[in-house]
Amino acid sequence: MRVVDFSFSASFAVLILVLNVVEVCNGSETSRFVRNVEKTVDMPLDSDVFALPPGYNAPQQVHITQGDHEGKAVIVSWVTPNEAGSNKVLYWSEKSKLKKQAFGKVYTYKFYNYTSGYIHHCTISNLKYNTKYFYEVGIGYSPRTFWFVTPPEVGLDVPYTFGLIGDLGQSFDSNITLTHYEQNPHKGKAVLFVGDLSYADNYPFHDNVRWDTWGRFTERSTAYQPWIWTAGNHEIDFVPEIGETEPFKPYTNRYHVPYKASESTAPFWYSIKRGPSYIIVLASYSAYGKYTPQYKWLEMEFPKVNRSETPWLIVLMHSPWYNSYNYHYMEGETMRVMYESWFVKYKVDVVFAGHVHAYERSQRISNIAYNIVNGRCVPVKDQSAPVYITIGDGGNLEGLATNMTEPQPSYSVYREASFGHAIFDIKNRTHAYFSWNRNHDGYAVEADSLWFFNRHWYPVDELSSSEQK
Ligand SMILES: [Fe+2]
Repeated sequence: MRVVDFSFSASFAVLILVLNVVEVCNGSETSRFVRNVEKTVDMPLDSDVFALPPGYNAPQQVHITQGDHEGKAVIVSWVTPNEAGSNKVLYWSEKSKLKKQAFGKVYTYKFYNYTSGYIHHCTISNLKYNTKYFYEVGIGYSPRTFWFVTPPEVGLDVPYTFGLIGDLGQSFDSNITLTHYEQNPHKGKAVLFVGDLSYADNYPFHDNVRWDTWGRFTERSTAYQPWIWTAGNHEIDFVPEIGETEPFKPYTNRYHVPYKASESTAPFWYSIKRGPSYIIVLASYSAYGKYTPQYKWLEMEFPKVNRSETPWLIVLMHSPWYNSYNYHYMEGETMRVMYESWFVKYKVDVVFAGHVHAYERSQRISNIAYNIVNGRCVPVKDQSAPVYITIGDGGNLEGLATNMTEPQPSYSVYREASFGHAIFDIKNRTHAYFSWNRNHDGYAVEADSLWFFNRHWYPVDELSSSEQK
């Protein structure tokens, strides 16, 4: 068990009024953590986190993500504002110092009266596992250098730590969330991002300048560790009244993912292996009914997962299937009906979703017995089913989801309307430690946690185990 450091950030401490009157019902807990709920507002355009890097045509909005299926490639992306400039990436490992080069492609797009900068995407391949690399972009005018560490080779008892962030936006609270993630002593080596990035679509005409500011705001993390992207509803940007009828246009131009490496036909659903994990990203806002491309892909995808190679099976999606808040209630239901039986059959360890601006963790439950006439349509405990975690509490300008359905469903273990982030810390083939951090606490304080037991290698009920604290 971790030693918790109760060091407190004074600037956040003032926000807290009264602490922790907890309502407990059948093992379900609704936190009554009381806070001074101030309106969540976006940071102004002249905020320091949005500042342009110095120099002519200096690359900005630098971000990386995994570039292949196994973790030996990285997609490096950046934007140059004045001209396309060089599409070259120079990169070298900490050990060899021998500089190699790769060349990317440049994209631009228009959105109503906005014209994007020059968006570069460059895949660097054949990297060594577990190696620190430096990379340089903006060659010719104002080069900038960053670094990343490649994951360990895919394997059974390979420790690896993921951060979890959702629905981030660019408010003052978003900045606190990102800072808490960066300062977390157990910070991840990659971020699983469960959708809703910039919230630019909350501005008139979906002002895409707010996509640029989001890219600059998050660069301090995204340039140094891969963020694994999931598309949310705020990525759709479908606005026919102003002539914008191509869904996901800003998102797909700005954020590339390695979907072809998993034989997907669209960037909204895909999979990667990373260290000890197999991660399947699903699309809540692309067709998922029977015979659709996503359905056919997922049907073929699950049997490919080899738990003797990647013991941990993680699914990311934006709209949660199990959500007991009065926000987006049952929006994930139709996808649940289509896919839940596969999740149980293939023993998914955990499903992370966003969309609801709060935190919630479920028991292992399924609701797959219903066949139209038998009336068996309630969630039941199921040790082959995943734990469902909603982590849409990144802090965007829409504020917290504070209104919950009452009573709390018995399958809902813990729910709380606070901004925060989480960590999924895989130790070996059997154990992973999950923790949730709320922004109102110190950086090292865990507001909720659970030792996960792997569904393939150690399918014991976590909630009744003496291993839990
Ligand atoms: Fe959403």
